[in-house]
Amino acid sequence: MDIRIFKNEAEIGAAAGKLFCDFVNEKPDCVLGLATGATPVPTYNYIAEQYAAGKVSFKDVKTFNLDEYCDLPKTHKNSYYTFMIENLFSKLDLNLDNVGFLDGNAADPEAESARYAADIASKGGIDIQLLGIGRNGHIAFNEPADEFTGESHKIKLTDSTIEANSIYFDDIPMPRYAMTMGIGSIMKSKKIVLIATGASKAEAVKAMINGPVTPQCPASILQQHEDAVIFLDEAAASLL
Ligand code: F6R
Repeated sequence: MDIRIFKNEAEIGAAAGKLFCDFVNEKPDCVLGLATGATPVPTYNYIAEQYAAGKVSFKDVKTFNLDEYCDLPKTHKNSYYTFMIENLFSKLDLNLDNVGFLDGNAADPEAESARYAADIASKGGIDIQLLGIGRNGHIAFNEPADEFTGESHKIKLTDSTIEANSIYFDDIPMPRYAMTMGIGSIMKSKKIVLIATGASKAEAVKAMINGPVTPQCPASILQQHEDAVIFLDEAAASLL
């Protein structure tokens, strides 16, 4: 693991955003794996600024997102698809036909998982995957469990995740299920960039980096990835 510590989330946004822009400039038709949540917003803002300044183009880039809630219309204001449109896609020259998303309303989650894996493989696999981390060590929605997960699947969210994310749901109850890429799918990414900011992530960061590789802390699997870069602010790194 390549661990980089920054003062605050603004510095991380610039550093991680630059890493992604440099990557796209080097490989303009690359495949990006993207995350939602509060953590990547400064990174997405930096990328959008670079695009607005004419420093990078996403017209041939393909993207795949990590996860999507179940039982929520794709265009609901709280869907992860809407999050990506609002926070990134609408600010770039990205072709929406090149945007891959899990269908949280798929009648057959297994068939949906197979479709997603085939779609990713047909584009050559994910070149660089952006991740956040949950307070319980989850990555995507792979919650602490007895075994590491494989490919995409439907998952019941834990109380910790529901507590953390329900602040975004002011009109309807937060969904209890999600479709998520599995640990196996994430580990196939050629490069992984995980960002963690804030003291609430410090315990999970410590377990990810210094703890044993265990499905009880799903992010700990990244110790076994050949090219995982971890961006931390001082608060998230405070227990290392
Ligand atoms: C989101 C995702 C989640 C988040 C994690 C941290 O696509 O996969 O694993 O990265 O829950 O969320 P924030 O960034 O809101 O603290």
